[in-house]
Amino acid sequence: MTHPHQRLLIIDFGSQVTQLIARRLRELKVYCEIHPFNRVDGAFLQDFAPKAVILSGGPASAYREDAPMPPAGIFDLGVPVLGICYGQQVMMHCLGGRVEGGHGTAEFGRAFVTPTDDRLALLDGWFATGTEQVWMSHGDHVSQLAPGFAVYGTSPNAPFAITADVARGFYAVQFHPEVHHTPKGAKLYENFVRLAGFTGDWTMASYREDAIAKIRAQIGDGKVICALSGGVDSSVAAVLIHEAIGDQLTCVFVDHGLMRLNEAEEVVAMFRDAYSLPLIHVDESALFLGALEGISDPEAKRKTIGRLFIEVFEKQAKAIGGADFLAQGTLYPDVIESVSFAGGPSVTIKSHHNVGGLPEKMGMKLVEPLRELFKDEVRALGRELGLPARFIGRHPFPGPGLAIRCPGEITREKLDILRKADAVYIDQIRKHGLYDEIWQAFATILPMKTVGVMGDGRTYDYAVAIRAVTSVDGMTADTYPFSPEFLGETMTRIINEVKGVNRVFYDLTSKPPGTIELE
Ligand code: XMP
Repeated sequence: MTHPHQRLLIIDFGSQVTQLIARRLRELKVYCEIHPFNRVDGAFLQDFAPKAVILSGGPASAYREDAPMPPAGIFDLGVPVLGICYGQQVMMHCLGGRVEGGHGTAEFGRAFVTPTDDRLALLDGWFATGTEQVWMSHGDHVSQLAPGFAVYGTSPNAPFAITADVARGFYAVQFHPEVHHTPKGAKLYENFVRLAGFTGDWTMASYREDAIAKIRAQIGDGKVICALSGGVDSSVAAVLIHEAIGDQLTCVFVDHGLMRLNEAEEVVAMFRDAYSLPLIHVDESALFLGALEGISDPEAKRKTIGRLFIEVFEKQAKAIGGADFLAQGTLYPDVIESVSFAGGPSVTIKSHHNVGGLPEKMGMKLVEPLRELFKDEVRALGRELGLPARFIGRHPFPGPGLAIRCPGEITREKLDILRKADAVYIDQIRKHGLYDEIWQAFATILPMKTVGVMGDGRTYDYAVAIRAVTSVDGMTADTYPFSPEFLGETMTRIINEVKGVNRVFYDLTSKPPGTIELE
C-alpha cells in the first residue's frame, strides 16, 4: 500500500510513557503510530512500510521465558531501529547480547551519562558540557553487547547507556529520551529521524488535504449525521467533514437545558450562521430536566442523560430520512490499544456520555476523521480550518453538562444561579489573563444553603464552589494556584452579582484523589 506520509512504527511493550514518544515525533512533523508488540506481524509490517522503528520501554525482563518479543523480521527490514530501555534490552537479547537483573542493576530517576565516544550521528549536539542528565527507570540492564554494537555513553548503573551498531542502523539507549527530565531528549529523537531520512512531511495543511480525500472516498454519495456539542473535537470534525462533502452532512445540536450561559445561542450562531453548516437545533430542555427531577445519584443522572440523548438523536436522524454514517470526534489516545500485563477489567469511575451504541442500533458506519490526532493537533487542525482562536482554546465541557456540576437534585433555580456564577468566574479568569494557563475552570453549586449577613440583614442562600485545574490529558490534575487577591475579588463579584449566593468555596482537591468534575 502507498501512504501519503513517511511513517514511523512504535512497537509498544507497555511503558507508561510510550505515548510521549509519539508526541515527540509528531512535534518533529513525523507521522507515527503505536502498536502493541503482539499485534504486529509480517503482513502488517509490509503494509505499514515503516521508514524507521522504535521499540518502547516496558515492565518485563527480556531474559525471562515469557518476555514479550519484537515481531519476527523487525531487524531485517533494512530500516533504522531505536530501542528505548526495555527496547534496548530486548534488542540486545534478540541480537546475541546479554541482559541481567538483580542486585545493583536498577536505576530510577535522574542519572548522568558520560560520553565514551561522541562521534555518533544520534548524539549530534549532545554532550556539549561533558555529561548529560537523563531519566532512567530500569531494574535490569545490558551486561553484554550484541555483536556489531559499540558503546557511546555510560552512567553509573548502566555501562551501556548509549549503544549502536551504525552499520546496521541499530541504536539503543537505556534511558527515556521522551520524558521532560531528559532535557536533550527531543534532540536525540530529532537526530534519529534525520539519520533515518525523514523530511518532516506531517503538517496540518497536508493532513487536512489527505483527510478530505479520505472522507470523500469513504462517504461517496452517502449521508452523514453528526452530534455537534460545541466542544472542540466534534466541531473540528464537523467543519472538516463539511469541507469534504458539503450538504451530505447534517449536524444535530441537542440542547439538554444543561448548557452554560448563552452557550446554545453561541454554538448555533457560529456553526449555522458563520460556517453555514446544515444544523438542526433541538431544544429538549423540558424533556431532560423533567426526567432528571428528583434524581440525585450521579450515575443515575449520567445514565438518564445518555439514554435521552440517544432517543432524541435517533428521532432527529429518522426525521431527516436516516443517515449512512455517524461522525464522531474520536481522538488518537482513545484508539491506542494499551498493552496490559496485569489484565483484568478496570473499575468504572463514571459512565461517560457519548453516542456509543447508536451506530449498531441504527445500522450506521462511523466516520472518525480525528482518530490519528492528539488533542493539541486537533486544535492545530481547527486553526488550519479557520476556527476562531477563542473557540479552539475553550476548556473542555462534559457531555452531561451542568448536571454534574450541580451535586444533589437539579432544579431550574439552581441551574440558573450556577450559570450566572460560572459566567462571572470565567469572566474574572479572562480579565486576569489566566484562561489559557488553566486546563479547566468552572463553578459548581453545592447542595446546601448557609447563613450569611448582607447589609444589615440575615441571608440563607446557596454556596458555590469554584474549581480550576491544570492537566495535560484530564487523567490527572493539579489545583491551579490562584493568588489570594484573585480569589477574594472573585468571591466578592460572585456574591454581589449573583442573587441567591452568599458563600464561595475554592476547591483545593487534585486528581487523584478527586475527579475533575464533582460527579
Ligand atoms: P473527571 O471528572 O472524570 O473528568 O476527572 C475528566 C475530564 O473528562 C470530562 N468529562 C466528560 N467529558 N463526557 C465528556 O465528554 C462525560 O460524560 C464526561 N465526564 C467528565 C471532564 O470535564 C474532564 O475534562
